[in-house]
Amino acid sequence: MALQWHEFASKDQLDAALAAHIAERLSAAINARGAASLAVSGGRTPAGMFAALSQAQIDWRRVNVTLVDERWVQPDHADSNEKSVRTHLLQGPAAKANFISLVNGAATPHEALPAIEARLAIFPTPIDVLILGMGDDGHTASLFPDAAELEAACASTALLAAVTPPVAPHQRITLTLPTIARARDVIVHVTGEGKKSLLLTAMSEDKPVQQQYPIRRVLDQVATAKSVFWTA
Ligand code: 6PG
Repeated sequence: MALQWHEFASKDQLDAALAAHIAERLSAAINARGAASLAVSGGRTPAGMFAALSQAQIDWRRVNVTLVDERWVQPDHADSNEKSVRTHLLQGPAAKANFISLVNGAATPHEALPAIEARLAIFPTPIDVLILGMGDDGHTASLFPDAAELEAACASTALLAAVTPPVAPHQRITLTLPTIARARDVIVHVTGEGKKSLLLTAMSEDKPVQQQYPIRRVLDQVATAKSVFWTA
């Protein structure tokens, strides 16, 4: 399917529209299969959308939420994606959702992989709705250009991979590219002219796969619904 672009005049309008879209897809999944799964990204962009989504009047008790990726820090750390999700999304009606954390007490994400994979075994897949951010280097999730583990994480049959970003802080745990690409609805949530320009470049350049930006490599593997929600 083609990549759908949705552009909005303001961040508030984007947050409200994306929250409504996600809520509608989660409700449809619950009606169809009795449960729904949502995987969200961290970073700064999604906080406003999380707040809007948290107020959605859906059966949150039937919604399983996890992260697309996580920094290897404890949930009370300022850089924790889980902290952001608990603060902005798992509030109000959405507090009833079942959240599956990607971190535990292991010293490294690599050591933790078997235990966290086991946690996700109960997570309904294919994931119904998966939200991606994108960095200024074209990374998405924790699939970072030039990371030593990138090719393995792009080809792995496992749900998760451990990645040490070349520049960004913290070791990471991330859904693998195939796991992301199997989601039923993949949405790239980005703001700013710079990220729009980078995304358009990534999607249009003619390069060998291993030289492409990770965001392009992911989206090219998504066979189902894929879209961009953007505002300047
Ligand atoms: C993370 C995210 C990452 C994020 C991008 C964009 O752990 O950092 O999952 O992939 O989505 O880096 O981050 P911003 O929204 O802060 O620009």
